[in-house]
Amino acid sequence: MATAELAGKHVVLGMTGGIACYKIAELTRLLTKAGASVQVVMTDAATQFITPVTMQALSGRPVYTSQWDARVPNNMAHIDLSREADAIVIAPASTDFLAKLVHGMADDLLSTLCVARDCPLLVVPAMNRQMWQNPATQRNVAQLRADGAEVLGPDSGPQACGEIGDGRMLEAAATYEAIASFFSPKILSGRRVLLTAGPTFEPLDPVRGITNRSSGKMGFALARAAQQAGADVHLIAGPVALETPWGVFREDVQTAQQMHDAVMRAVADADIFIGVAAVADWRVDHASEHKLKKTAGNALPSFTFVENPDILASVAKLPHPPFAVGFAAESGNLEVHGEEKRVRKNVPLLIGNLGPLTFGRDDNEVILFEADGATKLPRADKQTLARALIAEIAKRLPDASLIL
Ligand code: C5P
Repeated sequence: MATAELAGKHVVLGMTGGIACYKIAELTRLLTKAGASVQVVMTDAATQFITPVTMQALSGRPVYTSQWDARVPNNMAHIDLSREADAIVIAPASTDFLAKLVHGMADDLLSTLCVARDCPLLVVPAMNRQMWQNPATQRNVAQLRADGAEVLGPDSGPQACGEIGDGRMLEAAATYEAIASFFSPKILSGRRVLLTAGPTFEPLDPVRGITNRSSGKMGFALARAAQQAGADVHLIAGPVALETPWGVFREDVQTAQQMHDAVMRAVADADIFIGVAAVADWRVDHASEHKLKKTAGNALPSFTFVENPDILASVAKLPHPPFAVGFAAESGNLEVHGEEKRVRKNVPLLIGNLGPLTFGRDDNEVILFEADGATKLPRADKQTLARALIAEIAKRLPDASLIL
């Protein structure tokens, strides 16, 4: 999550009855940590699962449960609470509450707020699989979508009742990601983005290999920012220990050759290619099938190296290349090497990492090299930087004016 990525957003978080109420404690923490202000409103049933005191402590605001609550200055809680909201999020949304929303019922504070709202409505269903599959629920969900509500989830898996199936509420982190994505300007709407990220691993034998210290954080942050900007995102990742960003299609590979082949299979569909991976320049020509053993005389193994394909340059060479963006991590004199590399790789935009210490760090500072000159972006955490870079890329697309 970027620092304060939801700063200035106000969310009315409506909780209805369900065991998934426990997930809302964490969701509230994630939203407030991202800078959003959160006004919790609970139905009576929700208060059976988690107390308003807990939700007040986590949100830092008094919790409302009744339309007769006199704490709202003009006694119009059902109107006032949603007036400053950027969205109402119903989580968990029970079977009963979905039905009430569809029919515009207004017999408690939360349902009345929803009918009286002038902001978007997001619902995060949570229920037993039979309740979810019930034709009435499915009709209600379809109607809610047709009425313009965003339905997030549900997930599939083990349920509190002991059954397994669809209907579980999304985890708090996934719900947060879906909300953050909802709030992001859709500057890449309708675009398809292909990225590579992380290191590659070139085997020497079945247990050893050559790799590098790329953590994949910058590439994964860019994939997340592109998804949030409305793009269809395909991420080809080398071996990294990172979670797939919400809504991103991920393909895992090991070697540079596998990464090259995966990119070549997917690139025809891409409008934008971003090569963030730290691809190994060489591999050994024949990796040993068996583990290399120490020999009696301690003779050292020797290897013959061959060059790996340059994925970025291959993409840029295609007859109809996507808008191709490269990265460069130099150990010195970036100003000179960055522009040289951009020209050599034949890409319109190359992003130079300032300083060799970016691998594994959570922040970064970059320079954009393009035909017109170089532009430095301020140091920031990688998520914030990824958003800024996606905005810079969106501005430079050949037909950007059609979308922006
Ligand atoms: O030449 P160098 O490795 O410094 O170039 C870095 C850029 O080229 C990055 O965008 C990287 O993803 C890409 N690259 C590639 N295939 C290689 C080597 C680098 O796509 N074999």
